[in-house]
Amino acid sequence: MRAMNEDLLGPEAIADPYTYYGRLREEDPLHWNPLYETWVLTRYDDVVWALRHPEVFSSEIFLRDPRPPLPPILETDQALYEFNTHYLSHWFLRRDAPDHLRMRRVVHSHFNPKYIAGRFRAIVQEVIHALLAEVEDRGRMEVLQDFAAPLPVLVIAQWLGLPQQDREFIRQLSRHLLALDQENPDRNQAVHHAITTLVAYITPLVEERLTSPREDLLSVLATGEKDGSLSRDEVLGNTLLLLVAGHQTTINLIGNGILALLRHPDHWAQLQRDATRITHATEEVLRYDAPVKRAPRIAAAEVALHGKTIRQGALISPVTPTPMWRLAVVSIIVWARTSPGWRAKRPFGPSRSGLLPSVWLQSGWNTKRC
Ligand code: HEM
Repeated sequence: MRAMNEDLLGPEAIADPYTYYGRLREEDPLHWNPLYETWVLTRYDDVVWALRHPEVFSSEIFLRDPRPPLPPILETDQALYEFNTHYLSHWFLRRDAPDHLRMRRVVHSHFNPKYIAGRFRAIVQEVIHALLAEVEDRGRMEVLQDFAAPLPVLVIAQWLGLPQQDREFIRQLSRHLLALDQENPDRNQAVHHAITTLVAYITPLVEERLTSPREDLLSVLATGEKDGSLSRDEVLGNTLLLLVAGHQTTINLIGNGILALLRHPDHWAQLQRDATRITHATEEVLRYDAPVKRAPRIAAAEVALHGKTIRQGALISPVTPTPMWRLAVVSIIVWARTSPGWRAKRPFGPSRSGLLPSVWLQSGWNTKRC
C-alpha cells in the first residue's frame, strides 16, 4: 500500500477518521502500525469475528502486555504507571471469562435498558435542568465543557450513590482519569492523582455500605465483596471503571450529535418540532459518527488473516524481534462510512427507523455490552 501517516492519535486521523481508516480498509484491512506496534483491523466481518473470539482476541491488555506503554511515558513515571495499571487491570471490561463473568454478574441487573429507563429518566432530567440553569443567565453555553462533560459524571455519581455535595470534586477527578486516553508523556501523573484520591474517598463509603447497604450501585458492589464475588481492589477498580466508561463515550456522543445536527439544519428543525424523534436521532448519531472508534484487544493465540500472521507474542516467538501481537480493533462504524459511495447512500438521517448493525457494535458485542 502507499505510505501513510501512522499516527493513529494525530491530527489527520482525528480530523477525518473515516477517510483515514477507509483507506486502510480498502488497501490493507489488517494493517501493522509500526508507530504504535499494533495491528489495525478495519473490515466489518473481521471486526465481528475478532470480537466473537475472545479466546484469540483477549481483552486483558493490562494483564498480558509486558511491554512499555505506548505512546511512551516519562521514565520517572514507571512506578505511577504500574500503580495505575494495577487498578485498571481489575476492570471487568478488560477481563475475559471466567473473571469477566464473575465480576459482571454483580452489576448485571443494573445494565438493562428497562431498569435504566425506569430508574434514570428522572435523574437525567434533573441533572440536565440543573446544568442548563447554571448557564441560563449567561445566555450562551460551551456545549462540551458546560453540558456534555459534567452530565455523565453527575448521573453516574448519583447512580453510585456518592454524596450530593461531593459532585464537583468527583467531576474534577473524573476529568483527570480521562488523561488515560491522552498521548502526553506525563499522563500517568494526572491518572495517579485521580486514582489515589478517589480510592481514599470511596474506601470509607464502601465500608459503610458493607454494614448498611442502600439503594445504590456502590452497595451492589459492596454486597459483591461481602458474598466473596469481588475483592476490595475489584470493587474500587470497577467503581473507577463506571466513572470512566460512561464519561468520554457520552461526551463524544453529545458532541458528535450536536455537530451533525448543526451541519444538517433541516433535521435539527424537524427534531425541534417533534421531540419523539430523539431515540432515532441518537441511534443515527451512533451510526453516523461513532463515539468509540477502537476496541483494543491482545492476541492470546497465533492467528492468520489476510495472508498475514498475528503472533501470540515475542515470548513464544523469539524469531520475530518485533512484538506483533498488539491489536486494535477499529469499530464497524468505520466500515459503514467508508463503503464506496457511502456518503451518497447513507447520509445523516435521524428519521430512519430500526437499529443498523453498526449501531449494535457501538455499545459493545456479545458479553461485553453496556
Ligand atoms: C454513548 C455512550 C456509550 C457508548 C458508545 C459505549 C460504548 C461501549 C463499547 C463499544 C463497549 C465495549 C468495549 C470493548 O468491547 O472493548 C462498552 C463497554 C462498557 N460500557 Fe459503554 N458505552 C457508552 C456509555 C456507557 C455508560 C453511560 C456506562 C455506564 C457507566 C457504560 C459502561 C460500560 C461498561 C461497564 C462496559 C463493559 C461491559 C463488559 O465488559 O461487560 N457505557 N461501551
